[in-house]
Amino acid sequence: MGPDADVLMRRARESLERAYAPYSRFPVGAAVCDERGRLFTGVNVENVSFGLSMCAERAAIFAAIAAGARRISAIAVASGAAEVLSPCGACRQVIAEFASGDTPVYCCAGTSEMRRWTVSQLLPSGFVATQLRSP
Ligand code: THU
Repeated sequence: MGPDADVLMRRARESLERAYAPYSRFPVGAAVCDERGRLFTGVNVENVSFGLSMCAERAAIFAAIAAGARRISAIAVASGAAEVLSPCGACRQVIAEFASGDTPVYCCAGTSEMRRWTVSQLLPSGFVATQLRSP
């Protein structure tokens, strides 16, 4: 049984205030649930050298992995914007590394309804380890 989407989204929303986004002024918060039901959060962390900035989704996943997680059973992403965001391409590939095709990705904006995608909806035909190992 996966984590409750509302609980996960609440954690993502709560982390929003800790985002470091002085350049874009686009704070993002994310929360992931690991295979043991533990929750981890992340925020976007920008840099004056813009290309070094890190998205909230990857920050949350890397925190989970550093704490010993190996799989992600759900991820929630929150922004304060009017329109619901969906994870960038780089984050989709990183989510796919630790999730299954049917793992839910919940996204929501400031006042909007929560949207739900699956990992395979967001990253169809992604690069997978079997391709790496094929001769
Ligand atoms: N960002 C995220 O953290 N997650 C997303 O899903 C979309 C974009 C961040 C990156 C950058 O700090 C800011 O939002 C604007 O692109």
